[in-house]
Amino acid sequence: GNNVSIGLLGLGVVGSGVIKLVEEHQEKLVHQLGCDVQVKSVLVRDLDKTRGVAIDRTFLTTNPDDVLNDPEIDIVVEVMGGIDLAREYILKAFAAKKHVVTANKDLVALHGIELQEVASKNKCDFYYEASVAGGIPILRGIVDGLASDRIQQVMGIVNGTTNYILTKMNTEGLSYETALKQAQELGFAEADPTADVEGLDAARKMAILGRLSFSTDVDLEDVEVSGITNIEIEDLEYGKQLGYTMKLIGFANFDNHQLEINVQPTLLSNNHPLSDVKNEYNAVYVYGKAVGETMFYGPGAGSLPTATAIMSDVIAAIKNMRLGVTGNQFVESHFKKVLKTPDQ
Ligand code: NAP
Ligand code: HSE
Repeated sequence: GNNVSIGLLGLGVVGSGVIKLVEEHQEKLVHQLGCDVQVKSVLVRDLDKTRGVAIDRTFLTTNPDDVLNDPEIDIVVEVMGGIDLAREYILKAFAAKKHVVTANKDLVALHGIELQEVASKNKCDFYYEASVAGGIPILRGIVDGLASDRIQQVMGIVNGTTNYILTKMNTEGLSYETALKQAQELGFAEADPTADVEGLDAARKMAILGRLSFSTDVDLEDVEVSGITNIEIEDLEYGKQLGYTMKLIGFANFDNHQLEINVQPTLLSNNHPLSDVKNEYNAVYVYGKAVGETMFYGPGAGSLPTATAIMSDVIAAIKNMRLGVTGNQFVESHFKKVLKTPDQ
């Protein structure tokens, strides 16, 4: 039929946002796509849990096959997190010729290239806009917006939880523990926040950004990481007195085939535009040879912002389906690494 059905793996912070967006914006979706978009089934762990979103319980299931093997489901949205099981389910979805959208940077940083290749072989889309910087359309900005340019540097704040913690410690004098607890309650932190505070979540995002920006194969091990667990409120105070603000900064530079990529707490002068990015907001500076300096700014975590990124991918997949193409732009950028421009 003309309608598109999606299946969700997970109904937590991000999954609930997707349900809300699909419902509240149905009219706009119909207008843009000429079809209804419906969520048909949702995989969860616990059927009896109270949900932060109104959903007919009959849509919920604990059997992954209800999503992965339902012939009526065209697009699978993976928002459960974790690595091995998420990978297994996504591979099953591709085998069943379903397009996949994910928010899972842990998985994309580690297995993204493999998954893209399997997607391509099966003529499926694989999109992951939500995996980096939440609601900011940064991957499309790089892959589509700056498609013709050669990007040299990417730098910014790509983890909402740690930016929230540092902001609250710095401006309200909150303790690290209290600020982290708030970030968890607001749905910004990972299920295990260790990845946030130790810088690993940011490193995963920098690996993904590096790959897409430089069209080269960046491994997670290439990223040097240090997090914010050793930052004391006194360090922030000291910086403040000198006119500096502490931020967890991801940095990637690609020049002459040399890659420098790291994540570390950095004291930024208060004149620096990144010093003013507060709470769960993210900002990414991208320098391209032709375009020069660009800056992408917005909410880096949270339910509805992240859901907009998921839905942008869902809509891209639906448009591709309508055209009968697989528009997997992210795959091609990896193969571009064999191309060399004359001055390299
Ligand atoms: P979450 O609130 O913890 O939700 C996870 C959901 O997945 C829950 O509904 C859970 O079921 C379900 N789930 C987990 N493991 C499962 C399993 N083995 N089998 C079946 N269902 C399972 O997580 P989230 O914050 O929405 O994050 C989801 C993904 O999005 C993660 O990859 C995260 O890194 C990424 N992400 C999050 C944000 C954000 O702001 N939160 C932003 C960007 C990307 P139950 O509800 O029954 O427990
Ligand atoms: N835990 C992540 C963050 C979620 O705080 O940035 C968004 O990827």
